[in-house]
Amino acid sequence: MRQAIHDLQASKIREVANAGLGRDDVLAFWFGESDEVTPEPVRQAAIESLQRGETFYAHNLGLPELRSAVARYTSALHPAVDASRIAITSGGVNALMLAVQALVDAGDEVVAITPVWPNLVAQPAIMGADVRCVALRPVDGAWTLDLDALRDAVTPRTRLLIVNAPNNPTGWTLTRDEQRAILDHCRVTGTWILADEVYERLYFEPTANGCAPSFLDLAAPEDRLVVAHSFSKSFLMTGWRLGWLVVPPSLIEGIGKLIEFNTSCASVFTQRAGIAALAHGDEITPRVVAHLKACRDVLVPLLADLPGVQVAPARGGMYAFFRLEGFGDSLDVAKRLVAEAGLGLAPGDAFGPEARGWLRWCFASRDPQRLVHGVERLGKWLAAR
Ligand SMILES: Cc1ncc(COP(=O)(O)O)c(C=O)c1O
Repeated sequence: MRQAIHDLQASKIREVANAGLGRDDVLAFWFGESDEVTPEPVRQAAIESLQRGETFYAHNLGLPELRSAVARYTSALHPAVDASRIAITSGGVNALMLAVQALVDAGDEVVAITPVWPNLVAQPAIMGADVRCVALRPVDGAWTLDLDALRDAVTPRTRLLIVNAPNNPTGWTLTRDEQRAILDHCRVTGTWILADEVYERLYFEPTANGCAPSFLDLAAPEDRLVVAHSFSKSFLMTGWRLGWLVVPPSLIEGIGKLIEFNTSCASVFTQRAGIAALAHGDEITPRVVAHLKACRDVLVPLLADLPGVQVAPARGGMYAFFRLEGFGDSLDVAKRLVAEAGLGLAPGDAFGPEARGWLRWCFASRDPQRLVHGVERLGKWLAAR
C-alpha cells in the first residue's frame, strides 16, 4: 500500500460511534445528518425512474436535464452559471475528491483552513500533497479567520487553497470582504480555490438570496475556482450520494474523464430524485433551514448555561461546536460520554489539533426534545465530575 494511504488517520468520529453502536440507550448526535427521511416527492421520483427501467449507465457529467436544473438553481442564487460548467457527482465527497484529483500532483503544496471536516485534508494527502493548515482562532466560543496569517501561508508555491464555509464543525462563515481578499490574493499567487459550499443554504443570518456568501458571487467563469455542492444537507438526501461541481469551462472535460475512471456516472434514478429535489426545493430547503435554526436556538442557550461550556451560535451549518473547560483530550471525553452518560458527540480532535478540548453536536434533530434530553445528560455527567 502507498505510504500516503498508510498514514491516513482513521476517523475519530467513527471511533467514538463504534463504541456506541448497537446501544439504543445512546442519544447520538455524532454524524452530520438529519434524522428526517428524504421528502416523499423526491423518493417518488426515484421509484418512478426505477419502474421505467432506468437502470443503465449514463453520461459521465450527469443527465443534461439535471445539469440544466442545477445551473438554473445556481443562477437563481448567484450570477448566471452555464450548464456546461456543471458536473454531477456521486455526493459532495466525490465532488471534492474529483476536484483534488484534477488539480493536485504529488508534492504540491495545499493550504487548508482548519478546524475542518477531516475528508478535506485527507483528500489532498491521498494525492501525495504537502498539506499545510491555517487555524481559525476561537474568540468567546466563535471561530475567526486571521486573514494576514492566511495571506502569509498562501504563496506562489501554493497550488490549492481549501476553504469550507459555512464550516463543519465550527459554523464559521466567510464574510464577503474576506472572500474578496482571498480571491484577490489567490489571483496574484496563481492558487486554485476549492470552495466547499455544501452548507451554503443552511445559513441563519438574514441575506437577500437566502444563502451564505459564495465565491461564485465574486469570481469570473475563468477564475481558478472550483465550488463543491451536495444534495445531502439542503434536501435531506445524505444516503443518495448526489452532489455537483461548478468548474471553469477549461476544467469540465478533464472532470468528465475523471468521473469515467472513478464512478463512471451517478445512477440515473438518483439523478431523477435530484431533479425532483430541485423542483420542490422552494418547499423543502426553507423548511429544513427554519427547523435547524429552531434546533440551534434550543440547544445553544442550554449548553451555554452549563458550567465550563463555551459556545457561540453557529451562523451556518448544523453543528454546535463547544469547548469544555478543563478537558484536554476530547476523543477521550467523547468516549466517556458514550459509556458513562449515553450521549454521542463528535470529538473536536477529529477536525484539527486546534480543536482539542472541543466537541461537535449535530443539532439536526427531528424532535428538538432529544436535544434537551442530551443536554440534561451532559449536565448530569459534568456535575458528577
Ligand atoms: C464540509 C462538508 N463537505 C462535504 C460533505 C459531503 O457531503 P456528501 O458527500 O454527503 O454530499 C460533508 C458531509 O458531512 C461536509 O460536512
